Amino acid sequence: MEIVSRMMDGSLPYKFEDGQAGAPVPGPPIRRDEKIEHLQKVPVFEGCSHRQLRALARITGVIDEPAGKVLTRAGEPGTEFFLIVDGTARAEVSAEKQVRLGPGDFFGEMSLLDGGPRSATVVAETPVRLLVIDRRNFFTLLTEIPRLSHTLLVTLSRRVRQAEQSLKG
Ligand code: CMP
Repeated sequence: MEIVSRMMDGSLPYKFEDGQAGAPVPGPPIRRDEKIEHLQKVPVFEGCSHRQLRALARITGVIDEPAGKVLTRAGEPGTEFFLIVDGTARAEVSAEKQVRLGPGDFFGEMSLLDGGPRSATVVAETPVRLLVIDRRNFFTLLTEIPRLSHTLLVTLSRRVRQAEQSLKG
């Protein structure tokens, strides 16, 4: 978390894709303390100190979306990673396969990792509150939070295994 800590104390400048230093991810204004409360609810950030959570709060957006909202659309380019704080969403992986995602789950990592289009349409099933992290900060977080990298790898392995099983079956 050294880099994230340095982003927080200002000793390391950070930039978003548009080159705007320190610009917040678009979203409604929200108090920093409230944002930290949301971050604390996400299991992958459990080991973070309060200081590190404050750094995360600077690079994370919080958005609320209504039930029925399409959050990612299959085939479109993707530039953001999402973590669900409250509510549930449905990943429409194929005509036969839908996967429910709930609090603590994440989506949108695949397009960021390989640069390809969104692999599935993800729709809010209920009103959802999401943490949003853009591509550049996503890669910083992967480096700085080993737990996030580990969880991503486990999740991706599970999805490959499930996909292979459905091809066989
Ligand atoms: P991405 O391809 O960026 O956008 C759609 C997202 O749906 C994808 O990242 C994953 O986060 C998620 N997704 C794709 N396939 C599955 C699956 N089999 N189970 C759960 N989530 C999935």
